[in-house]
Amino acid sequence: MDKKRIVIFASGNGTNAENIIKYFQDSELAEVVLVLANSENAKVLERAKNLNVSTTTFTKAELFLPDGIIKKLISAQPDLIVLAGFLLKFPQNIITEFPHKIINIHPALLPKYGGKGMYGQKVHETVIANKELETGITIHYVNENYDEGAIIFQKTVPVLTSDTAESVAKKVHSLEYEWFPKVIEGLLKKEQ
Ligand code: GAR
Repeated sequence: MDKKRIVIFASGNGTNAENIIKYFQDSELAEVVLVLANSENAKVLERAKNLNVSTTTFTKAELFLPDGIIKKLISAQPDLIVLAGFLLKFPQNIITEFPHKIINIHPALLPKYGGKGMYGQKVHETVIANKELETGITIHYVNENYDEGAIIFQKTVPVLTSDTAESVAKKVHSLEYEWFPKVIEGLLKKEQ
């Protein structure tokens, strides 16, 4: 059987993207076929190239054009589109074209600490400021609103009084590295 095709969108560093690419490098089930980034300076591009995965960059305008990124995606024939640290709102035409095939990871326990402007370090700083006792990760389907699609998976981690935004970020990243590839694998297996 042909391998399932994973396409990743990322905006910056791309450690999750790299982790997912590596996880599926020896997989018989799936492979990452394309990484898309909305900045030519995104570190994720270098990470993908080093692992021999094709990359594409685009502007915000191209993301929303009816014959922009959506055309590239259709020709990439993805079984799953994964947003891994992707910070722009996702266009409705792409969501409609790929129903139930687009997922996102968020570094908190949604519905808490989601929405516009809530990403990366900002999330962890707010968790610390609010003296939360736990935080975690949420993997969810993408719909037209930031961080509001149906939840697929959550995992929690305690926040200690000694924790800082930086230490929480580390804990959350560890959860992401452990669970995101496994959840992707589970979704693709279900499809078979
Ligand atoms: C990850 O922690 C991801 O959950 C978060 O950005 C980080 C990207 O790290 N995403 C969001 O905040 C989306 N709202 P990475 O570039 O090293 O993978």
